[in-house]
Amino acid sequence: MSAEDTPKPICEDHVIKGRRLSKRIRKKVKSEVEALTEKHGLSPKLVTVIVGADPGSQMYVRMKHKASSKAGILSDHHDLPESTTQEELLALIKKLNEDPEVHGILVQLPLPKQIDEKAIIGAIEPLKDVDGFSPQNIYRLFYGGEKLSSATPHGIVTMLDHIGWGDLSGKHAVIINRSTIVGKPLIFLLLNRNATVTVCHSRTADLPSFTRQADVLVSAIGRRESEDDPFFITPDMVKEGAVVIDVSTPHGDVEFEKVKEKALCITPVPGGVGPMTITMLLQNVLDAFTAQVS
Ligand SMILES: NC(=O)c1ccc[n+]([C@@H]2O[C@H](COP(=O)([O-])OP(=O)(O)OC[C@H]3O[C@@H](n4cnc5c(N)ncnc54)[C@H](OP(=O)(O)O)[C@@H]3O)[C@@H](O)[C@H]2O)c1
Repeated sequence: MSAEDTPKPICEDHVIKGRRLSKRIRKKVKSEVEALTEKHGLSPKLVTVIVGADPGSQMYVRMKHKASSKAGILSDHHDLPESTTQEELLALIKKLNEDPEVHGILVQLPLPKQIDEKAIIGAIEPLKDVDGFSPQNIYRLFYGGEKLSSATPHGIVTMLDHIGWGDLSGKHAVIINRSTIVGKPLIFLLLNRNATVTVCHSRTADLPSFTRQADVLVSAIGRRESEDDPFFITPDMVKEGAVVIDVSTPHGDVEFEKVKEKALCITPVPGGVGPMTITMLLQNVLDAFTAQVS
């Protein structure tokens, strides 16, 4: 292998290259999709659903469709009005559950208040639940399984795996977030890797006393409204040699340039967790397809 063929490291100059890792995984997903499509005469298909006109949801879903198409994954989309009832949405999910040509279903959150999010997520066929939020997939995660686990936390641990921090025995991981899409699933993924896990949130007293103990620090506070707002995580709050993962978008929580000087590795915003989230969704669609055709 020539020097040019040697893959570049995922952590370079203390920065975790989320885009570089994403590109690598997406290439692998694409070639597996091509092989399975050839073998089964059928391509994986993702169907997304948005209820209402939230501009953030529209943007995220467009990015998911674009990435799917590049990976050879077919995709379809349902835009439902804000006034959609729970029964109407459940009827659509039933139809998608029963369609043998649909392999992944993603209902973009948040949903309007007349719809019970838990009832909708619970109605998605677990084998097609590419967001990993269905009770069966959470149960599987609880028992150590990682197939179809939720994309953002799965992207975070995949980055850790690729920088050689796949086994976290003896390491203390501190998560600042307890949401169902980031913090809670991440607890189990980190425990699966033998970390000692602490979870902090808005009611935690003396946050720095926890962050300073972290070998792995994951921050997903997401309250900075502009680049001029003060950072939540400053260098004095970070242990020398820690791995720091900043989940928040569009403005990161962490004072990147200064924390980089202390950290072993740190994710940038943008270009860190964001691309990995979409990549893990593609991986989930591939895994869902594989499970359904085999
Ligand atoms: N890059 C990606 O792919 C991706 C994916 C998902 C989310 N995100 C980003 O991640 C961030 C979090 O998303 P989310 O949906 O999990 O948001 P969320 O539900 O609002 O969660 C924010 C968490 O931060 C905690 N928090 C708020 N203020 C705090 C403070 N001063 N000190 C300590 N903890 C504090 C909250 O505590 P309480 O629980 O006590 O309120 C909560 O657990 C957002 O910026 C979002 O855009 C990015």
